[in-house]
Amino acid sequence: MKEWQDIDLNNPKAVLKQALDLYHPRITLASSFGLEDVVLIDMVTSIRSDARIFSLDTGRLNEETYQCAEKIRNRYKTNIDWYFPQFDSIQKLERGKGLYSFRDSTENRKECCGLRKVEPLNRALQDMDAWITGQRREQSVTRAELKVIETDTSHGDITKINPLANWSSEDVWNYVREHKLSYNTLHHRGYSSIGCAPCTRAIKPDEDKRAGRWWWENPEHKECGLHTKEEDSK
Ligand code: ADX
Ligand code: SF4
Repeated sequence: MKEWQDIDLNNPKAVLKQALDLYHPRITLASSFGLEDVVLIDMVTSIRSDARIFSLDTGRLNEETYQCAEKIRNRYKTNIDWYFPQFDSIQKLERGKGLYSFRDSTENRKECCGLRKVEPLNRALQDMDAWITGQRREQSVTRAELKVIETDTSHGDITKINPLANWSSEDVWNYVREHKLSYNTLHHRGYSSIGCAPCTRAIKPDEDKRAGRWWWENPEHKECGLHTKEEDSK
C-alpha cells in the first residue's frame, strides 16, 4: 500500500483527493448508480475530470439505473467503463437452469452473482492498484467493521477505499440535495440499495438498508461477492 499522508478520514473529498493523487490512472470508482455512487462521482469528477469510473452491467439491471447512468455521463461529460459478463457462461446458465435459478438456493444465487458480477469485477480491477466503493457501515451487519482505507485481499492486495464508510444515509441525502445531483429514481419508490431488478425490492422505513436485497435470504448471507474478503470465502 502506498504512503498516505495525515488525512481526515471523515472527510471523503480529502480522502478521494489523496487517493487520486497517489493512484490515478490505476484507480477506478465502482458505481452501481445508487445514491452513494452518485455522490462519489460528483466528488471525483470535481477533483479530476478524467477520473475513472466503471460499472458492472449484469444484464439484469433496472431501466431506471441505465437512465441514471446516462444522465451522469451527460452531466459530467465522462465515459463509464461498462463491464459485461462472459456471454457463453450466461448462455450456459440460462439454458441449463432457466432465468430465475437464483431463487432456488443461496448456492445458485451465488453462482449467478459470481458469473454476472464477481468475474467481471476481477477483469475491471486487473490493472488497478486501488478502487473506490460507496459502501457504508450503516448499510448492514456485514459492513459494521468497514474501514475507510483497507487492503483488498481478494484482488491481489490492492487498496480499497470506502470514503463514505462513516456517513449516515442522512449525510448522503444532504449532499445530494445541496449539490442538486441527479439520482436513480428508484429511490423515490422506496429502494435504499440498487442492485439487479429481480433481486432487489423497496424497503419499509423501519427495515435494514439492505433488507430489499435477496430478501428471501438470511442477512449474514447478503453479499454478492463483490466485497467479500479472502478469509470470508474460506
Ligand atoms: S453489493 O455487493 O450488495 O452489490 P451494494 O449494492 O451494497 O453492493 O453496493 C456497494 C458498492 O459496491 C457500491 O457503492 C459500488 O461501489 C459497488 N457496486 C455494487 N454493485 C455494482 C455494480 N453493478 N457495478 C459497479 N460497482 C458496484
Ligand atoms: Fe444474479 Fe440476482 Fe446476483 Fe444479479 S443480484 S447477479 S440477478 S443473483
